[in-house]
Amino acid sequence: MRKMRTQRAIAVLASVLLIGGVAACGNSDTGGGGSKDDGKITMGFSQVGAESGWRTANTTSIKESAAAAGIELKFDDAQQKQENQIKAIRNYIQQKVDVIAFSPVVESGWDTVLKEAKDAGIPVILTDRSVDSADKSLYKTFLGSDFVKEGKLAGEWLVEQKKGATGPVNIVELQGNTGAAPANDRKKGFGEAIAVNPNLKIIASQPGDFTRAGGKQVMEQFLKANPKIDVLFAHNDDMGLGALEAITAAGKVPGKDITIITVDAVKDGMQALADGKFNFIAECSPLLGPQLMDLAKKVHAGETVPARIETEETTFTQEQAKEALPNRKY
Ligand code: AHR
Repeated sequence: MRKMRTQRAIAVLASVLLIGGVAACGNSDTGGGGSKDDGKITMGFSQVGAESGWRTANTTSIKESAAAAGIELKFDDAQQKQENQIKAIRNYIQQKVDVIAFSPVVESGWDTVLKEAKDAGIPVILTDRSVDSADKSLYKTFLGSDFVKEGKLAGEWLVEQKKGATGPVNIVELQGNTGAAPANDRKKGFGEAIAVNPNLKIIASQPGDFTRAGGKQVMEQFLKANPKIDVLFAHNDDMGLGALEAITAAGKVPGKDITIITVDAVKDGMQALADGKFNFIAECSPLLGPQLMDLAKKVHAGETVPARIETEETTFTQEQAKEALPNRKY
């Protein structure tokens, strides 16, 4: 009798150990800090905000792609504030999501929270915008555009247009929000490209925060302070669209009196280009959702992914915009 009881106790202990072992394996197999082992991936996503047509299209792409890929999405809108993004990321760590993805509103100041995610064993994917952390092991990959290239393409187009200019060509620049990767990089790329022609001069450059309201307000100031503006380079379509109102109100003809170059190529921007109000757009694609979900599955499975995945993009003239507009998805 005593022998039978001892055998039963050993069997119970063995099954407890076995279940514990399987559960431990389940966690480490995920390559993340997932709380449940139901085979479903949970992604915590911190979005920059809803500042532009580009951002709205990006959010739609992420939500639709998560649903199509069977990934449970926890979504947070940071309203263009870094502190909100850090708070959201910490919440996702607490909730033990499987993967964290985010588009950092600014480039600097992420090391501490990224280290917290790493220590919790949760892989991080950067999408759209990157961070300036020296420690690249803090995130698995960065999926997004080459913003320097976009600025460069915009500048090269202008150089070509103004190659016959004999006097100064006055340029004003509407920057994105201060410290954001696309604002820093587009400024850099554009500046480097136009440096080949000393006639091309940036006479004023201010942040318009990637919004229409910001673009309008700053353009009004530019117009008041500078009697001769030949070119506007806006870091996105929305600021360019806001600036159109200011330019028209000042009695000038956009696209003629002032050459307008923007970045993004969202539908409203493409319409302005097709209508002759904008002159050139360097594309920045917001349709990052399908690639992001694919990467999430891979990092969750513990697969190695490329450290940098660059989005394919093009540029548009007014004629090209007329052709592309009917099939434009965003
Ligand atoms: O990070 C991408 C940029 O952010 C887009 O060009 C702009 O429209 C958005 O707000």
